[in-house]
Order: sequence, then C-alpha cells, then structure tokens
Amino acid sequence: MPFSLYAIARPLLFRLDAEQAHAIAIGLLKTGLVPSNAFAAPANLAVRFCGADLPHPLGLAAGFDKHAEVPGPCFDMGFSFIELGGVTPAPQPGNAKPRLFRAPSAKAVINRFGFNSVGTKLFAKRLKAWRDLPQPARRVTGVNLAKNKETADAADDYVKGVEAFAAMADFLVVNVSSPNTPGLRDMQERGALTELLQRVMQARAKSGFTPRLFVKIAPDISEAQAADIAEVALAASIDGLVVGNTTLSRPASVPAEIAREMGGLSGQPLFDLSTQVLGQMYRLTGGRLTLIGCGGIFSGADAYAKIRAGASLLQLYTALVYEGPGVVARIAHELSTLLQRDGFTHVADAVGADFRKN
Ligand SMILES: Cc1cc2nc3c(=O)[nH]c(=O)nc-3n(C[C@H](O)[C@H](O)[C@H](O)COP(=O)(O)O)c2cc1C
Repeated sequence: MPFSLYAIARPLLFRLDAEQAHAIAIGLLKTGLVPSNAFAAPANLAVRFCGADLPHPLGLAAGFDKHAEVPGPCFDMGFSFIELGGVTPAPQPGNAKPRLFRAPSAKAVINRFGFNSVGTKLFAKRLKAWRDLPQPARRVTGVNLAKNKETADAADDYVKGVEAFAAMADFLVVNVSSPNTPGLRDMQERGALTELLQRVMQARAKSGFTPRLFVKIAPDISEAQAADIAEVALAASIDGLVVGNTTLSRPASVPAEIAREMGGLSGQPLFDLSTQVLGQMYRLTGGRLTLIGCGGIFSGADAYAKIRAGASLLQLYTALVYEGPGVVARIAHELSTLLQRDGFTHVADAVGADFRKN
C-alpha cells in the first residue's frame, strides 16, 4: 500500500478495536489487491543472510503474520526477509479478548495474545504451499517457534517445531521471551537454556536440513542473565540472537490508561531498552553471533543506532501499525544517507561501530 493510501486507511483502522483492525489488514493483504511497496534499495544496504543476497537489512518481525496467511504480501510491503509465527505445535486460542491495545500518542502497542495459533499442521501446509510457488527472488523466511500453554516439557514443543519446519524455513527462532505465556521466560535461565538448545540443535541435525537457528530474548534481563545467555548460545553453536521481544516495563512515555494493561509493550518506548540490551549482547558475544536488532525502529536513525550497537539485521512490527508499509522504504533511504554521511561504504562496516576502538 503506498504511503498516501495508508494515510487514508489509518484513521479508519484506528476507529476499530486493534485486533479487528489487524484482521482487516491481513484480509486486505490476502486479496492480493494491495499495491506493492517493493522498492530499489540503495546499494550500500546490501547484506547477506541465510546464504542469500538481500537488498537491505530490514525484515518483518514475528507476530504480524502469526498464521502464515500472507507471506508473499509481507515481502511486497518492502521487507527483505520475514519471520512468520509464533506457532505452537497444537492449535490454541490464546488469551481472552481484548488483548491488543494501541497508544498512538506514544507510538506504542501492548499485546497479551498468549500465542493464539492455528498449530503446526495447518501453518506448515500453508507455508509449504507458498514455498512451492515460483518466486521472483530468494525469499528468506523464518518461523518463530512457540510452546503450547499446557505443555510441561517446553523443550519438547520446540523440538516439534524444528521437526515441522526445518525443511521449509531459512531460519528458525526459538522464542523464549514472550511475556504472555506463564513460565516461558524461565527458559532463558542457564540450565534450562542449555538443555533446550542441545535438544533443538540435535533435532536440527536429525532433520538433515540446516535452517539458521536463533534464540529470541527479552529486553528485561539482568546483566548476569545476559552473560549466561551469551555463554550458552556460543557453546551451543547457534547462529544468532533476536534482541528482542516486547517489554514488561512501562517507560514514562507510555500513557497511564494503557500502561496498566498487562502484556508486552512494543514500539517507540521500547527503543532505548532494546538497543541497550543489543549492545550488551554484542559486547558479550564479541561479534561471533549474528544479532537481529528489533524494538522500536521507526526511522533511519533508529536503524543506524541498532547497527552501530551490533545488529547486522533488523526487524520491525509496531512502526507498520503507525506509519504503514511505506515506512520500510523510508527507513532504508534514511539509513543509507546516514551511512554515507559517516563514511561507511557498506552497512556491514558499521556493525558494532559504537564499540570499536579508534
Ligand atoms: C501484536 C504483536 C504480536 C507479537 N507476536 C509475537 C510472537 O508471536 N512471537 C514473537 O517472538 N514476537 C512477537 N511480537 C514481538 C515482535 O516480534 C517484536 O519483537 C516487538 O514488537 C518489538 O518490535 P517493534 O517495536 O518494532 O514492534 C509481537 C508483537 C506484537 C506487537
């Protein structure tokens, strides 16, 4: 949808309940009638990911296309890679509605979906059907793996996810950081994470495929937890981290009437916290893991800050809600200009620049 079209659509969508508006957006994308926002990215933004040459580092974060309904249209919004899901092994309804809240004055969203999911079987059927279609280019697609609320042995559910999607995903994201599933974030603790990653890596080896493996972490972690995660991730030889998920904290910029809603906060107020944790993980892993920076990206300056803090790829979701799909091309062009201004020939040259000795 061209930027101007979203400027018209937004007030209409914002009059509706947030979840209903999202369902309408997905419905519109499904029609195939929404004009493409694909754009020619400046050459200095080209990156390699999952063995593919991507025109720029901006991807779609998990949670927008939770049920693999519109992977093609997600690329048409201008993203160079997408992450679908989260998907749970068995279908489950998620939490009671309402469970999605906008805070337009803060450009923020709070959600407590609790993994509403169609389940692996239908999701995989949809993804495979789309993957089997002829594609205009290599379309790097990941799947965000989640666990069912009632599953006691969490690792079991992630293993099922790997078994279901290893053959059809370029990357898999072990999501142990959604705040809306009781106990999920405990999987980030040293012992639990060590066992989980061992089992997930074994399942990948057994599958005979090699999707890249990422762990998505919460921005609400202590320094000790960050150090543990870095050590365990490096020891397990996973490919990288997504930093990160929504926050349970409520920065002062979030209006009081929405701040008291339970759930994970995303959007602009998440930017500082998630960028700080990103930098921390970059220093702790010494550039040995691929870091995907996510949280509150709305501008080229935001994207640039994440890259300087150590991200080699980026993802966004909430900016789409407030700015529409035109935001991807705008961020890309702004980022390109900032790189040029500071004398970086190429986006990869700026990764972690904040922590390099001159
Ligand atoms: C409505 C909604 C649903 C989400 N669902 C998921 C999910 O299923 N799995 C996941 O790992 N992250 C999920 N996220 C988190 C996003 O992927 C992202 O990490 C977070 O929103 C921060 O990025 P942003 O500020 O650009 O939105 C969701 C976010 C929102 C707003």
